[in-house]
Amino acid sequence: MSDSRVTVHTEARIDRIEPEIHGHFAEHLGRCIYDGVWEDESSEENGYRDDVVSLLRELEMPVLRWPGGCFADDYHWEDGVGPREERPRRRNLFWAQGTEERPEESNAFGTDEFLQLCEHLGTEAYLAANVGSGDPQEAADWVEYCNYDGDTDLAERRRENGHDEPYGVRYWGLGNENWGCGGRMSPEQYAREYRRFATYVGSMDNLLLDHDVELIACGFEHHEWNRRFMEEVGNNAWGADFPLDHLTLHHYYGGTMSVAEADEDQYDQFLVDALEMDRHIERIAAAINAVATTRDIGVIIDEWGAWHPEAVAENGLEQPGNVLDALSAAAVLDIFNHHSDVMTMSNIAQTVNVLQCLVETDGDDAWARPTYHVFDLYAPHKGNEAIRTSVDTPVRAVDDDELPLVGASASVGDDETYVTLTNLDCRDSQTVEIVLEGTTDEPTVDATVLFEGRDVDVTVDASNAHQYEPEELDVEVDESRLTVELAPSTVAGISLS
Ligand code: AHR
Repeated sequence: MSDSRVTVHTEARIDRIEPEIHGHFAEHLGRCIYDGVWEDESSEENGYRDDVVSLLRELEMPVLRWPGGCFADDYHWEDGVGPREERPRRRNLFWAQGTEERPEESNAFGTDEFLQLCEHLGTEAYLAANVGSGDPQEAADWVEYCNYDGDTDLAERRRENGHDEPYGVRYWGLGNENWGCGGRMSPEQYAREYRRFATYVGSMDNLLLDHDVELIACGFEHHEWNRRFMEEVGNNAWGADFPLDHLTLHHYYGGTMSVAEADEDQYDQFLVDALEMDRHIERIAAAINAVATTRDIGVIIDEWGAWHPEAVAENGLEQPGNVLDALSAAAVLDIFNHHSDVMTMSNIAQTVNVLQCLVETDGDDAWARPTYHVFDLYAPHKGNEAIRTSVDTPVRAVDDDELPLVGASASVGDDETYVTLTNLDCRDSQTVEIVLEGTTDEPTVDATVLFEGRDVDVTVDASNAHQYEPEELDVEVDESRLTVELAPSTVAGISLS
């Protein structure tokens, strides 16, 4: 007798799971860039950290957002190009608090360092332009520097700085949290600013760039703000198309749960808060659909993940990495799969050392956090067609909310169906029956599980990181019915061919 049943509706297709849903975000904040991907700010030549770069490369990251975050709306890209010794040193307006060792930005890591990192990782770049304190000319110049192949001064500067060919940056964010650190704007004010920037940045497309430029506006978790933004941004008396390709929001959770002090009830609440992502996607999609359509304008969640009270500006937003956070990431990736019809990208915050990073460093050590293994386990979904799943599972009451104990998503690729499962219950195992609807054939099964027998709250560091690698999962197969036993707080990936 199973505790939960997952029905995989193999014929009920949702949409393609854009690989960019597995994207990442890196900001000039704490030890994300310096000490993270780049040795340190004084590195003269090639300062990339090989250990970090090789871990990130193995992950096949589809897209990386940079340079912020709040940092983006105070960043002037020309500070970070050209000979490193001539680059100006600037204050880091938003992330300097208390960080005695690094209260300033050296600009050692700039546009070329970032874009060449992306080339090396095989990752699409997503640049966030400065709307809060910049101007449209600066943003359009950045596109020209990166992407133009003609004989202009800016294209020539890129060549002098070592990159002959245009980089072909496709994704351009216009501003970040412009309701807050990006200029404290009302939705109408941001919409007007956005339209002005989009006119110049978007027109760069006319210059035969080798990539289409896709424009991204930054929305808010308050959906009335998004609705008003959408209304105003489309309010174009000249009848032109909507000047945007994607609308984003940021969803962090865990702000009331100190990792060090939490108990099982708080773990449940934390996971309920992570599952709120579902509602946010529905609401932002509704804000888009009120005046346009999600077929034309995609939903991006370009900052998300756990943000616990341990992570404060004074410590560069660092917090311990553990299984609980990784479990929340799995639950959120399942939600993204369910919404593959509207989702075009997402970027977990932040790649190295900051918040729910995937890779952490300490001196010469670099290791993968449990969240890294979740991304790896979910990787087979990338580019597949998501299909519907129904999950019949017990729920636990959590204040006014409910935590469904088992979660799932599924997708179909060329040769396989891939199913991911989470047991969000940190107390008990769950016996899960998986029913493949519409097929009677007995599949060939290959299954792995993460975190079996691991404590959810143990801090993962260089000494124990190897204990969080995936292990084989036993699956009982009876024609098109499979049964697995999921230990508490585990994540499983099952490939069926
Ligand atoms: O990721 C940390 C910060 O969170 C970003 O700079 C900002 O966009 C968000 O509020």
